[in-house]
Amino acid sequence: MAYAGAEFWDQCFRQRRESGDDLDWAGLWTMPFLVPLREAGVRTILELGCGTGNDAARLAGEGYSVTAVDVSDEAIGQAQARFGSMARFLTADVTLRLPFPDGSFDAVMSNVALHMFPDEVTRAVFAQVGRLVRAGGLFVFHVNSLQDRALRERSLPARELEPDYVAEESGQTVHFFSEAYLRELLAGWQQVQLVPVSVPHRKTGRLFKHVWRGIARR
Ligand SMILES: C[S@@+](CC[C@H](N)C(=O)[O-])C[C@H]1O[C@@H](n2cnc3c(N)ncnc32)[C@H](O)[C@@H]1O
Repeated sequence: MAYAGAEFWDQCFRQRRESGDDLDWAGLWTMPFLVPLREAGVRTILELGCGTGNDAARLAGEGYSVTAVDVSDEAIGQAQARFGSMARFLTADVTLRLPFPDGSFDAVMSNVALHMFPDEVTRAVFAQVGRLVRAGGLFVFHVNSLQDRALRERSLPARELEPDYVAEESGQTVHFFSEAYLRELLAGWQQVQLVPVSVPHRKTGRLFKHVWRGIARR
């Protein structure tokens, strides 16, 4: 089943660059992870779906060794231009096997970037995260919650492709996660913490999004 790929995301990031905008949540996603990452003794982090690299740079600024990947060449180009001296950026598709050995990171972080795929692909992506995090390491993430669907469909009408998985008119595909589904995806992880979070829009301050904040130990 199809999902939005490099072409869709390249266009999004090109349009933002041309209009002088950048997709940056100013630490909203990374701040809640700083204490857990420090307490777990993490030193190396892989970020999946890093966009233009702001969060990778934030974590690098905290002293972590950060590798960050995104499917969009355009986003990675912008990240490299701004933060290439702080973190390692590369273009890669998280739905394919990533070029890192098993257990090669102390932690994987992903913010609002793993909810683009249908069920079968989502399962494979979460399994790959499990492959990449060393024993005792952390997976920290934000993904859309089920509650986000009605909120999002108010302004972005969508067609359902699978249960809780939709395609919007723009071509963006979005998966909404129930707590039960997330717990199933994280079976095999320890100390799973899932917190529902309501996010105000980064510019208008209005209620914008409902996500799960997740922390799990390998
Ligand atoms: C909503 S943006 C979030 C970007 C960034 N994490 C942030 O919080 O601003 C989703 C990101 O996931 C990336 N993405 C989508 N599908 C991907 C895939 N198959 N492999 C790698 N990155 C992907 C997009 O290019 C985009 O940068």
